[in-house]
Amino acid sequence: LGEPAHDSYGRRIDYLRVSLTDRCNMRCVYCMPAVGMQFVPRPELLSNAELLLVLQAAAAVGFRKLRLTGGEPMLRPGLVELVAAIKAIPGIEHIAMTTNALRLRQLAEPLRQAGLDRVNISIDSLDPHKFRRMTRGGSLDEVWAGVRAADAAGLHPIKLNAVVVRGMNDDEVVQLAALTQTYPWELRFIEVMPLTGVAGLADAGVISSAELIAHVESHFGPLELLTHDPHDPARCYRIPGAPGRIGFISAVTEPFCSTCNRMRLTAEGRLHLCLLRDDEVDLRAALRAGASQTELEQIIRMAVSAKPWGHGLPDGVRPTLRGMSQLGG
Ligand code: GTP
Ligand code: 5AD
Ligand code: SF4
Repeated sequence: LGEPAHDSYGRRIDYLRVSLTDRCNMRCVYCMPAVGMQFVPRPELLSNAELLLVLQAAAAVGFRKLRLTGGEPMLRPGLVELVAAIKAIPGIEHIAMTTNALRLRQLAEPLRQAGLDRVNISIDSLDPHKFRRMTRGGSLDEVWAGVRAADAAGLHPIKLNAVVVRGMNDDEVVQLAALTQTYPWELRFIEVMPLTGVAGLADAGVISSAELIAHVESHFGPLELLTHDPHDPARCYRIPGAPGRIGFISAVTEPFCSTCNRMRLTAEGRLHLCLLRDDEVDLRAALRAGASQTELEQIIRMAVSAKPWGHGLPDGVRPTLRGMSQLGG
């Protein structure tokens, strides 16, 4: 197994975010447009066998951490067996998942047994009606049941993601932050990225982490800054004495491209080199043309070298081909 590859800017790339499907059982306002989504026809998705070949090659190139994403990854048929097969790949040290938790109540324990290490769960509001509005139909009760099931299954540390949208959930920041006084979880506030399909969300102005920190501190007093893992997109704080942590993900106002360690694999088998750019490398075409494992590894290495520096949000370059739900965040 190789040492993790470095890109042309010297960044060590060892974290692959793997989209298992572009479909979702919710329609969050910051992720998908209300109507008009076109989903990838099933034959165009990587099969489980194809995905395992790609991930074996990725592990050989030095990817050590995987995060399963979507759309909603729990919509993938045969997920538990797939996770177990991924866990068995030599070199894969850590498997996490980002999920809306609607199916987590049933799946937390089997996934843990199959080898899943952690989950990040989207939860933007603690008010059932507002939650339903932001997710266009999601059940907050079901999500909470999922969070509790993840906790019981030991999928620790649990991270909760709240994308803050002006005029929708910005009045709940204090209540969300207060969860960390009760639970040993990490609650992350995320600046909304105005990608394809949801660009209009930025019209009312992206709420910056600086604004949110000021708001949280005006209620709880000064937060303690915690030490920062440079590859963690969140900068973390603690309300003094609280068991949990509050994270701020500031991709718009303070891009973290200089410490980026990741690439993405889309559900149809394209390496997507940077979340906020369009650059892609098609692995499915190579696979279906009969590429050997060594050839796949070479293509992945080339893709790592071709990783672009980063993005120019809020006003510069941004991807036009895909929206968040097709990229897995
Ligand atoms: P861990 O640090 O392993 O817990 O995961 P994570 O925070 O990288 O993953 P998660 O899927 O929970 O993503 C949280 C937020 O960070 C989402 O809004 C993602 O879109 C965003 N994010 C993740 N990776 C990147 C990235 O490379 N660039 C940018 N701009 N945003 C990212
Ligand atoms: N901006 C920022 N974060 C987003 N997510 C989805 N869409 C956006 C967006 N437009 C987040 C969700 C999910 C994670 C994968 O990406 O919170 O938890
Ligand atoms: Fe990495 Fe691109 Fe995200 Fe920047 S925008 S942190 S380079 S994936």
